[in-house]
Amino acid sequence: MNTTAPRRILVTSALPYANGPIHIGHLVEYIQTDIWVRFQQLRGHECHYVCADDAHGTPIMLRAEKEGLTPQTLIDKSHAEHQADFQGFLVNHHQFHTTHSAENQHYTGKIYQSLDEQGYILTKVIEQAYDVEKQMFLPDRFIKGTCPKCKSKDQYGDNCEVCGATYAPTELLEPYSVLSGASPELRDSEHYFFDLPQFEAFLKGWLNDQDVNLQTSMRNKLAEWFESGLKAWDISRDAPYWGFEIPGKKDKYFYVWLDAPVGYMASFQALCDREGLDFEAFWGADSDAELYHFIGKDIAYFHMLFWPAMLKGAGYRTPTGVFCHGFLTVNGEKMSKSRGTFIQAATYLRHLRPEYLRYYYAAKLSSRVEDIDLSMDDFKNRVNSDLVGKLVNLASRCAPFIIKHFDGQLSDALPENHLFVDFAARGEKIAQYYEQREYAQAMREIMQLADAANEYIDAEKPWVKIKDEASKADVQAIATVGLNAFRQLMVYLKPVLPQVAADAEAFLHIEPLTWADATQPLLDHRIGKFKPLMQRIEDKDIDAIIADSKEDLRAENTMQTANEQPVENQEDWITIDDFAKLDLRIAKVLSCEPVEGADKLLQFTLDVGELGQRQVFSGIKKFHAPEELDGQLVVYIANLKPRKMRFGLSEGMILSASDDETLQILLQGGRAKAGMKIS
Ligand code: MSP
Ligand code: ZN
Repeated sequence: MNTTAPRRILVTSALPYANGPIHIGHLVEYIQTDIWVRFQQLRGHECHYVCADDAHGTPIMLRAEKEGLTPQTLIDKSHAEHQADFQGFLVNHHQFHTTHSAENQHYTGKIYQSLDEQGYILTKVIEQAYDVEKQMFLPDRFIKGTCPKCKSKDQYGDNCEVCGATYAPTELLEPYSVLSGASPELRDSEHYFFDLPQFEAFLKGWLNDQDVNLQTSMRNKLAEWFESGLKAWDISRDAPYWGFEIPGKKDKYFYVWLDAPVGYMASFQALCDREGLDFEAFWGADSDAELYHFIGKDIAYFHMLFWPAMLKGAGYRTPTGVFCHGFLTVNGEKMSKSRGTFIQAATYLRHLRPEYLRYYYAAKLSSRVEDIDLSMDDFKNRVNSDLVGKLVNLASRCAPFIIKHFDGQLSDALPENHLFVDFAARGEKIAQYYEQREYAQAMREIMQLADAANEYIDAEKPWVKIKDEASKADVQAIATVGLNAFRQLMVYLKPVLPQVAADAEAFLHIEPLTWADATQPLLDHRIGKFKPLMQRIEDKDIDAIIADSKEDLRAENTMQTANEQPVENQEDWITIDDFAKLDLRIAKVLSCEPVEGADKLLQFTLDVGELGQRQVFSGIKKFHAPEELDGQLVVYIANLKPRKMRFGLSEGMILSASDDETLQILLQGGRAKAGMKIS
């Protein structure tokens, strides 16, 4: 990749929902994207970055109702807050729009019409739960009831959290509406579907196209989705709904996920209107601009199947790449409101400057779809040692000599040493790491350079030389080497630390740095006053963030919606006696087989030591091949009431870990043996 042939690039981050604050989990994505965009610009490319609030859908409608606001007021409020949060974290969207906009209504309608004209929209009457009291159809997550399989109470309409069964909400026993408590009625309603199966061949081609920039693990994931078969996608919702009405259909609305990605186009259109850019040059079917979407792994299905198919079907270009990232954990666990690790952007910013977190995320991020952990101790140590101890320290060790003894003047030549040349030569490698989103590797390279520069100063001992008339003159050159090294490091870190870079530019009295500046030394130049560029993180800063986050929880405790992560409630503690009621055991899988006539089930025969043999049916076939589990040691709950199934008796349950995407049976090793108790 070279800096002399400018590319035209359009970059997006996923659109945050307009009913909750930006938190440090979201920021993994926005910081990752912002770094990439700043990098491209620093290299001289034309790179635009757009985003928007995702402002439609049932949760937003209901939340507004709960707060006594109109949806419009709620989303306006979120919009202002989100903008302030992004600014605070130096995330520089060139346009931060909203999906509830004229531009979005225009493109959503246009795309829908085009799909409809070509026969990609199907109409089907479906039976759906209706809340007679609220007078609305209920999304699956708004219906609860008793699990049809294990009979656990208060389970959601799409799956049981106790036994893991998945089912249709119509199968729940004693169902009730989460909104009113009323027992829902089944009513017919006409829905519109996007006929995804018609795009199977196109999508397969797109996925296997090596010019399309997708991660290998995502290509594999998509292949799995193809295997389980593409289905038509329900893109309509009945009134009352907060969204765009489908043109020509009364009381029918576009489902929020239909108009959400179109928001990328809408936001870019607003940017075009403001800056005089050519929309078609970026979105037209034969655009030669590059288009990249940065997203979290939870929304890959929408971005890698529905979205490219919609674009293709409606005659637009498709993405050049989709870059998926993993989820944030804090201190090794899911962000938790009660532990104070569900940290809102605004809360963090009250205590620490944004660049600490930007740097820490950069030091952790790779191009792989892996979760990243913010360990608070590691965060503090890493930032203090790298940014304060290595980077800023280099400038503060050199600048005072120049200012005090040489009237702010850098020497007019570099003495014989390799530092400058080595640093300049490293630039392309670092650039490649940024380009490939291997930020952790880029940071490692850069910090190696910082070490080398500090070692150089250690060896030259300017603080000794300055005291001796014979060697005093050398100090100007030594400090000039040091400050040039600092300036090169600033170039390489500028995508991550834009404000520190601006402060450094101000004190060095130089124009905004670009990537190419790392190959040109700064000589015979007068620098300005030096102010320390960054302070250390103290334990008390982090403690205050955690304490404030617990406070945030108390303040908004009532505002739980279906969109958010469940809040752990302090009242939900169990005692050790509650725990002791579970007879958890190690069990050895004696056999594991598919069950004829049940496409989700696996049948296990377990050896549970002194408890003998047990038979368990488990709906996990999608995630595990039977051979994988044969002979393994698993975690088993032995005193769960056995239940009769169509295929036989299921005695207890095998434990597994899962998230929205995948499931893994908990496997044991080491000294674990069949029959052992787990406590
Ligand atoms: N509104 C949808 C996206 C529509 S895009 C056309 C949405 N919104 S969200 O607010 O829930 O998430 C926005 C982005 O932040 C998503 O890419 C999501 O994966 C990411 N993250 C949200 N929480 C996250 C973590 N805890 N960790 C890392 N990224 C996370 O999804
Ligand atoms: Zn169940």
